[in-house]
Amino acid sequence: MRAYYFDNVPGDQRLPHDYVPSRPVAPETLSALNVRFWTIPVEGYEPRVDEVAKERGYKNRDTIDVSKAGMGAIYEEKIKGFFQEHMHEDEEIRYILSGSGFFDVRETPTDAWIRLAVEPGDLLVIPAGIYHRFTLDEADNIRALRLFQDEPKWIPYNRGVDTEANPHRVDYLRSVGVGA
Ligand SMILES: [Fe+2]
Repeated sequence: MRAYYFDNVPGDQRLPHDYVPSRPVAPETLSALNVRFWTIPVEGYEPRVDEVAKERGYKNRDTIDVSKAGMGAIYEEKIKGFFQEHMHEDEEIRYILSGSGFFDVRETPTDAWIRLAVEPGDLLVIPAGIYHRFTLDEADNIRALRLFQDEPKWIPYNRGVDTEANPHRVDYLRSVGVGA
């Protein structure tokens, strides 16, 4: 997984949006934002993914497949929806099986976007309460495991005044050392 600051240049969300020269983001920066990641080769991945899942209490999982080829006309609309800035009340956990894409997470307190370029073998945990968004890249396909604890809590809360008051948002800010 490669992490770098998003260049904020308008245009297709699927482009890399990497500054020239690139502004890489250190693992310590991600860790300070409570973003966790592991690299587990896809060949024979199950025991190692199971180990992380057990350690973190992810009892359930399913597979999601997003591709231009498989979705046809609704694809463009769908990926614009994923790109709306939002947070969840639970962690968003993804293990990439094939394809690739970009998760963007907001850095606090700078409010800069950090782009996480994911590829097969990346296991990523986006914490509850962090603002983020997702897009496919120009290859237009990704297949990933979604891991979760009991019930999936995937309701997206779009960024806004109400969401700022959400207890999971408040807890997140506190956990990264911002807020009372
Ligand atoms: Fe999300």
